[in-house]
Amino acid sequence: MRKPIIAGNWKMNNTKAEAETLIKELIPLVKDAEAEVVVCVPYTVIETAARLTKGTNIKVGAENVAWADKGAFTGEVSAAMLKEVGAQYVIIGHSERRQYFGETDETVNKRTVQALKNGFAPIVCVGETLTEREGGVTEAVCKRQVEGAFAGIGVEDAQKTVVAYEPVWAIGTGKTATGEQAQETIAYIRSVLAGLYGAAAENIRIQYGGSMNPSNVKELMEKKDIDGGLIGGASLKAADFSKVVNYR
Ligand code: PGA
Repeated sequence: MRKPIIAGNWKMNNTKAEAETLIKELIPLVKDAEAEVVVCVPYTVIETAARLTKGTNIKVGAENVAWADKGAFTGEVSAAMLKEVGAQYVIIGHSERRQYFGETDETVNKRTVQALKNGFAPIVCVGETLTEREGGVTEAVCKRQVEGAFAGIGVEDAQKTVVAYEPVWAIGTGKTATGEQAQETIAYIRSVLAGLYGAAAENIRIQYGGSMNPSNVKELMEKKDIDGGLIGGASLKAADFSKVVNYR
């Protein structure tokens, strides 16, 4: 019932020329994918990515969005600007933004509201640090982040939103959560969503992210509540990303 969604998160990688090479390699490799395929890319290459993927099954996303329509917000990029260059998805609240750029549950919520208002599919990231996992507060952290992100968001919009569960200790470290660990926390996140939206929580897609790659994708995707992946490092090579996309 929930269509799997595999999204690349390029982070701060790829110039225009590099983006062009990667997208051109990727197009034929993922054209028969059963999953929804998205590449979330730096602002400067959104237009390039959107132009090259036009008419293909690859969709393009941004890595953040401003919560305001326009105005005095130096360094921010608005939803209208992102739409104009061809982005349809947007990552919000990635742990790197929470860790290095002061993103909070409140700003994540404001950005998510703004993304939905402008017709984007937000990919909202949540997940605990290693200290939090070891301190036994994984569920409390995920609950706070999910409830924070979805505050005031209605059931229709909630179902357009994708959640990415990304344990911070698994991001870029080569340490993946086991299928069981990921399933357990993602099922818990779905129960938090059920607390907010009842049965509609069954329609909300929840991805796993954190060192997902061609060798562990199958184990993770077999789990009942895992509906896709948010892929960092392995999305930077067409061969690897396409293997994740074509995990079956
Ligand atoms: P990773 O990054 O796949 O390199 O661990 C995932 C993410 O941060 O979205």
